Amino acid sequence: MTDSRVSARVRALKPSETLALGARARELRAQGHSVISFSAGEPDFDTPEDIREAGIQAIRAGHTRYTAVGGVPELRAAIAEKLRRDQGLTYVPSEIVVSNGAKHAIWNAFFTVVEPGDEVLCPVPYWVTFPELIRLAGGVPVCVHPGPGSYKIGPEDLERALTARSKLLVLNSPNNPSGAVYSRAELQALVPIIRKHRLYVLSDEIYEQLVFGDARHVSVAALDPEIRERTILIGGVSKTWAMTGWRIGFAAAPADLAEGMERLQGQSTSNPAAVSQYAALRAFTGPSDSVRLMRDRFAERRAVVVERLRRMRGVRIVPPEGAFYAFPDLGERIRSARNGVCDSATLSDFLIDEARIVCVPGSAFGMEGHLRLSYAISDHDIDEGLGRLEDALDRM
Ligand SMILES: Cc1ncc(COP(=O)(O)O)c(C=O)c1O
Repeated sequence: MTDSRVSARVRALKPSETLALGARARELRAQGHSVISFSAGEPDFDTPEDIREAGIQAIRAGHTRYTAVGGVPELRAAIAEKLRRDQGLTYVPSEIVVSNGAKHAIWNAFFTVVEPGDEVLCPVPYWVTFPELIRLAGGVPVCVHPGPGSYKIGPEDLERALTARSKLLVLNSPNNPSGAVYSRAELQALVPIIRKHRLYVLSDEIYEQLVFGDARHVSVAALDPEIRERTILIGGVSKTWAMTGWRIGFAAAPADLAEGMERLQGQSTSNPAAVSQYAALRAFTGPSDSVRLMRDRFAERRAVVVERLRRMRGVRIVPPEGAFYAFPDLGERIRSARNGVCDSATLSDFLIDEARIVCVPGSAFGMEGHLRLSYAISDHDIDEGLGRLEDALDRM
């Protein structure tokens, strides 16, 4: 027996380390410190004007009531059309469930598919929320480690982590935190194992439009009809259209799974905000110039960050191909530190205390020795922050 008034289930939840670091940055700033935070998980741009206007028009048009639980028909149809256009995937609108952000769609997916004790395979590094939600749904998160120096798993890595209880594989490409993007061939190599072991797949594609250079986003669901039947595809507007506060994400899945997720949502949150749905409709159907502009800005910043990190002694960086994060390996610097820094968490603390820069430790994503640096911040902050990082590393 415990005295806590909070349930054991909630007590077992780890608070989000990324959100906690963001709060720490705000606190230090409020005390008058000049803090540069590389912890942002959202674009620093405003939602494009035409999308904001669509939200205003939705209020004026009286879209202020409950909608269908899984979203208004025109938004579900627009998402189905987008998946057809971009990936050649066929979904009918009832196979699309619109939720309060991609995080909520992922919550629905885990609770719909996972039975108590089922193992859910999470390639490392993983987005911080996956293991927590899997546990909450009664599942057991199982790490899948890529080969040394890699941020993507291959068939042997997956094979090694499988057991008779494996139920679901989580794929997240482009990846948070590494920025890794799986090519068609890399995904194809996983298909025989997914098929053979009859795994379900949760494919988190929230950063799909943010890919750089020669990288192309490919959805695992598009590789093979049998995989599409076993996949819940997650997407949304938060990252691509700078709409984090509007809270619109979606899941696309075969009819029985979509129906399950909608039933669950019907007894929890009901529909996501009606006004936000109409703003998202504009995002999916309107012009793409603003997305292109934001992506170009991210590409420029990415080039600067990679170049600067590459020049730092003892820092290894695999250029990210997508999202807006760099995930340098500082293992060598940590091993040679003489000031008590012994892992990514103590390094992150040292950088906050000594240099007033906030970076998320790799341990939060299951991969020691690394830091995640978001470049969804201004050019000035990137320049100043990387200068502080280099100086601080030299003082370790
Ligand atoms: C990989 C990944 N999936 C999902 C989300 C959640 O997106 P949303 O804000 O739409 O809930 C995030 C946000 O950080 C993310 O990085």
